[in-house]
Amino acid sequence: PVALLLWALAGYLLGSVPFGVVLARAFGLGDLRKVGSGNIGATNVLRTGNKTAAALTLILDGGKGAAAVLIARALAAEDAVQVAGFSAFLGHCFPVWLGFRGGKGVATFLGLLLAFAFPLGLAACATWAATAAIFRISSLAALVAAALSPVWALMFGLPQAVALLLALAVLIFIRHRPNIARLLAGQEPRIGKK
Ligand code: G3P
Repeated sequence: PVALLLWALAGYLLGSVPFGVVLARAFGLGDLRKVGSGNIGATNVLRTGNKTAAALTLILDGGKGAAAVLIARALAAEDAVQVAGFSAFLGHCFPVWLGFRGGKGVATFLGLLLAFAFPLGLAACATWAATAAIFRISSLAALVAAALSPVWALMFGLPQAVALLLALAVLIFIRHRPNIARLLAGQEPRIGKK
């Protein structure tokens, strides 16, 4: 249990690095929390018009989720892997550095899934991409990808991941409450639009 707590802390700290905020500042794009949706993720970085910063945010926010899983898997047992990945997600959503007001966890979710079980991660990324290609709405793509991830896990013979995926999906829906309200009102902006 102490070891698991340490993995939770390590995962949390890794996940809590707000790459969107850091990169927006580094690229001279100002305070990301005053742009668009105010969110700290890649979708909102793209609203500044800087595609490089947005791509880097996506890769690094995904990378920290993947790193938490891979480091735990190299050094500890499978329960620590799930704890580290989930904690990285929590770190992104509730970072101590930003007064616990963080992001929506989508890139970190996709990154940790790719590292956890590559086919499962690919299926989640493909679900995101297919939904985004059809509707051009990032939040909708995230909600569909999160909701379907437990289904993919069962299809890929990974029942041990279902509880984790359900927890992640519930949190992703909770974090997207403002987006869901805008989607229902038909006011959610398309990808890349302010
Ligand atoms: O990754 C977060 C995305 O699903 C929604 O971001 O900025 O449109 O609220 P945003």
